[in-house]
Amino acid sequence: MVTNVKTAAVVGAGTMGAGIAQVAAAHGCTVHLVDVSTDVLHRARAGIQAQVDRQVEKGRLTAAEREEQLARIRTCQHIAELPPVDLAMEAVVEDMSVKHRVFAELDRATPPEAILATNTSSLSVSRIAEPVRDPSRVVGMHFFNPAPLMPLVEVIAGAASGAAAVDAALACAAAWGKTPVRAKDTPGFIVNRVARGYYLEALRLLGEGVAGVDEVDSVMRTHGRFRMGPFELMDLVGLDVNFAVSHSVWQQLGRPARLEPHSIQQSLVAAGHLGRKAGRGFYQYDGELKVPAVPVDRRSYRLSPLFADICRAFTSAGGALDAGATEGYIFTRILAAIINEAGWALAEGVASASDIDTAMVLGTNYPLGPLAWWEKIGPRTVRGALKALNEMHADGRYAPAPRFADA
Ligand SMILES: NC(=O)c1ccc[n+]([C@@H]2O[C@H](COP(=O)([O-])OP(=O)(O)OC[C@H]3O[C@@H](n4cnc5c(N)ncnc54)[C@H](O)[C@@H]3O)[C@@H](O)[C@H]2O)c1
Repeated sequence: MVTNVKTAAVVGAGTMGAGIAQVAAAHGCTVHLVDVSTDVLHRARAGIQAQVDRQVEKGRLTAAEREEQLARIRTCQHIAELPPVDLAMEAVVEDMSVKHRVFAELDRATPPEAILATNTSSLSVSRIAEPVRDPSRVVGMHFFNPAPLMPLVEVIAGAASGAAAVDAALACAAAWGKTPVRAKDTPGFIVNRVARGYYLEALRLLGEGVAGVDEVDSVMRTHGRFRMGPFELMDLVGLDVNFAVSHSVWQQLGRPARLEPHSIQQSLVAAGHLGRKAGRGFYQYDGELKVPAVPVDRRSYRLSPLFADICRAFTSAGGALDAGATEGYIFTRILAAIINEAGWALAEGVASASDIDTAMVLGTNYPLGPLAWWEKIGPRTVRGALKALNEMHADGRYAPAPRFADA
């Protein structure tokens, strides 16, 4: 198996493929960028050129380095035209039948020792590998958008992936300046699964009438030190994209109550209120100005004195020292949901505790990894919060993950 990637193919020159090609070329790799559409190839090259030009303007690259980097990127329309490569990275549309066609072609067009990687966000790496005669050379290499800026790569071993291919993918990601983590081939891998808690719990708080979108966002920014609140983030990502990920992860994990997509989001998607790109989502956008666009049907909530104490302990240990009672309740619920999902992922062997934390900090800009938060807030307090919430809901959605149940 190849150990040092010098020549790569990137199949699919859309958002991710173009970004990954740029990263590879910036780290000395010769890249063959393949797309069925010549328009897309032109756009990809122009986009990469514009970004490299900006680096020259900022003094981060010399004119000669710019030339070398751009010259390392070649384009073509057919996989069959590829010269021998060390690694082929698939970044075509998220559709199993298209990916199968691409992998069947890559199987024929690449040397047997080449690594075949997929950038899929939500499909099974094991299934994607099916058309390849030697599936031990197929792995997942999940980059994040925008690929040139986001430092994380989740490296996913499918059922048949060989250790040599996984090691080569880890080494390649590191050589391309990224921080790789290992993840099992499970729905949403690490980031797209553990991040569900941030969105879904915020939606439940809105649905229960505890707080409006701007209040929840403000609590998580101010007290949680998250860069963006959950509703702002869904508006930025696109409500349709975010809903599709939620739905896919929930469905593939056997529809657990804690990951059930929320009807508020489903209705907004159906109404075309898809977020920033549509000018309206959870907020209405007017240039830089944004105002909440989803009303809150405010209802009072009641906590037992014990749960109110737990919320106070949770928020102060979590660093939200000056949070009021409702702010503390919001903070506790959202953070407990994220921590619990990380606990379930850990229990199911999705990744190690340190890889889960690294992935969430680098893949989503969380100020701290969920398991580091668990230790900071204290296992007993986290367990107390989950237990109290679980007693309020019959469907088991807050059932503590095994590690937290015995804390
Ligand atoms: N966009 C994101 O934020 C993001 C993040 C991480 C991973 N991903 C994953 O990366 C992959 C690509 O996503 P994207 O957002 O870049 O998609 P995109 O739609 O921007 O690009 C896909 C490209 O693939 C091309 N294509 C389709 N069939 C092809 C074929 N047979 N041969 C060559 N090219 C073909 C299309 O012309 C298109 O340009 C998907 O699997 C997606 O799940 C996306």
